[in-house]
Amino acid sequence: MADTVYVLNGPNLNLLGMREPEIYGSDTLDDIAGMLEDRARPLGLTVDMRQSNHEGHLVDWLHEAQANDARAVLLNAGAFTHTSIALHDAIKAIRTPVIEVHLSNPHTRDAFRHRSYVGQAARGTIAGFGALSYVLALEAAARL
Ligand code: DQA
Repeated sequence: MADTVYVLNGPNLNLLGMREPEIYGSDTLDDIAGMLEDRARPLGLTVDMRQSNHEGHLVDWLHEAQANDARAVLLNAGAFTHTSIALHDAIKAIRTPVIEVHLSNPHTRDAFRHRSYVGQAARGTIAGFGALSYVLALEAAARL
């Protein structure tokens, strides 16, 4: 499954499209999945898109990505980005490259969003481009 890219989404991202659209845009997670599939096809990649509001699910899926020999993980951990040492450790624990993704640019927002436990373990970060952040992260994954 080295051609599979896991795209893991954390809490509240199931509400994308109606959640604070002035910050996160009007695309739903399904819209983003469609954009990623369209871009993945010519790159010879398959996208496995998931969302959970539960931290442990995200940890389990990071482990699974390595067990299934995924090419990379795109991880938008939502608010867990700023709180989760468990996600930090899980990213460190696997060899699969993890790319941190955000729709908004957390550095231009509340101070509590300025620290990223995910970003301190990830290969790199793409943030601030709305749904395009995911597509840019997929392009990066294809070149790893
Ligand atoms: C987010 C940024 C986080 O600070 C926030 O908690 C989210 C979404 C983003 O994609 O911009 O839930 O990860």
